[in-house]
Amino acid sequence: MVSDKRRAHIGRVTALLDEWAERMHLPAAEAQAWHDAGRWHDALRDATPTALRAIIDAPDLPDGILHGPAAAVILQQHGEKRQTVLEAVRWHTVGHPEWDRTGRALFMADFLEPGRGFMQTDRAFMAAQLPHNFDGVFRQAVRMRLEWTLREGNRIFERTVDLWNSVR
Ligand SMILES: [Fe+2]
Repeated sequence: MVSDKRRAHIGRVTALLDEWAERMHLPAAEAQAWHDAGRWHDALRDATPTALRAIIDAPDLPDGILHGPAAAVILQQHGEKRQTVLEAVRWHTVGHPEWDRTGRALFMADFLEPGRGFMQTDRAFMAAQLPHNFDGVFRQAVRMRLEWTLREGNRIFERTVDLWNSVR
């Protein structure tokens, strides 16, 4: 269901989360939550919009961001009860102003993972700085994502705007 390319991305995201968790000396439960959020966030990224809409009834959401909410539904059906993991996966594409560290860490790992082709030096620097300045790097990542969205002329979600206003 997940392509090789996607699997490689998921592996890099999860490896980055593990590395940060270790360097930040996170408690084991939080480190596990970060790892699991990374592992599951794109589980349905390659599913068709029709398949995703059969899982989640959200006519207001465009196709491109359905895979997060749909993956959260499936995880819940499989017994996942950690809200920190569910909320991270659910909103990883748009962001959420009330995220705890798991949601924030996943958002950053998804953006900063080394396999992406753009701004490699800047993003590698941010990834290296993160354990020393989690909030500062998060703010910068949200800003860069927002700028990219604007440049591409893509729709900006209210949650993304709220997220920016909560960190600026
Ligand atoms: Fe991703």
